[in-house]
Amino acid sequence: MNGTVVITGAVSGIGLSTSKLFLAKGWNVMMADFNEDLGKKVLEELLAEYSPERLAFQQCDVSSARSVDAMAQATHDSFGHVDSVINNAGIFAKGAVHEIDEDVWDRVMATDVKSIYLTTKAFVPEMIERKSGTIVNTASISGLQGDYNMAVYNAAKGAVVNLVRAMALDYGKYGIRVNNVNPGPTMTPMFRSNPQSVIDEFAQASPLGRLVQPEDIARTMYFLASDESDPITGQNIPVSAGFEI
Ligand code: NAI
Repeated sequence: MNGTVVITGAVSGIGLSTSKLFLAKGWNVMMADFNEDLGKKVLEELLAEYSPERLAFQQCDVSSARSVDAMAQATHDSFGHVDSVINNAGIFAKGAVHEIDEDVWDRVMATDVKSIYLTTKAFVPEMIERKSGTIVNTASISGLQGDYNMAVYNAAKGAVVNLVRAMALDYGKYGIRVNNVNPGPTMTPMFRSNPQSVIDEFAQASPLGRLVQPEDIARTMYFLASDESDPITGQNIPVSAGFEI
């Protein structure tokens, strides 16, 4: 199968690598991201290689219903129906519960969790009608374990870890599969903002002695979105160099 995929958080890190892999595999890609300047730059670069019929960028805030609905409309205008949605946009905040400002708590929960509710409302009705489709969420190993100083991120990704099971149960009868990729520390701009000593420490802490690259996550995203992973559904798949075991 190759069709049309919507990827959120598509212009940086894991989302960018995933967008490039789907394009290379022949899919149409709607790249949705909050960052309009970077989005325009990335689109221009990719259009040197791929035709505009296969690729679009839409500025979108995944925590806003209005913005997600506008992105869904733009996707349908560009490509017709959607075969797969990759809910990858996410943000991180540090701190124990009592140290986190209310607006930060709300922003992380809205970007990392509510976004999946919004894109599902926007895209799942057409998948139900066609009785096929895949949804892949970027959770995290931080949803599978507790971490020091990462309370709201643990809460948000923990919610995504169980939401995938509910979605897989509710949509399985329509032939829709829903899975999570749970990255370990991955060398993206988000993670690279740590001091080098912290990055080295994380690498040493994994049994493979390495960090994960965005391309490693992209391959798993592609596997879960495509027919290659049939009949896997409702699963959390750590891609982590064994960091959390
Ligand atoms: P990144 O910061 O490189 O990329 C995230 C993208 O999401 C950016 O392009 C940003 O503009 C976009 N974004 C942020 N808020 C948005 C919003 N409200 N609406 C639309 N787009 C928005 O980060 P990275 O590392 O590629 O992260 C991607 C996903 O992977 C996130 O969900 C993150 O939580 C998850 N993850 C990352 C890990 C890592 O070590 N890098 C580890 C585990 C999970």
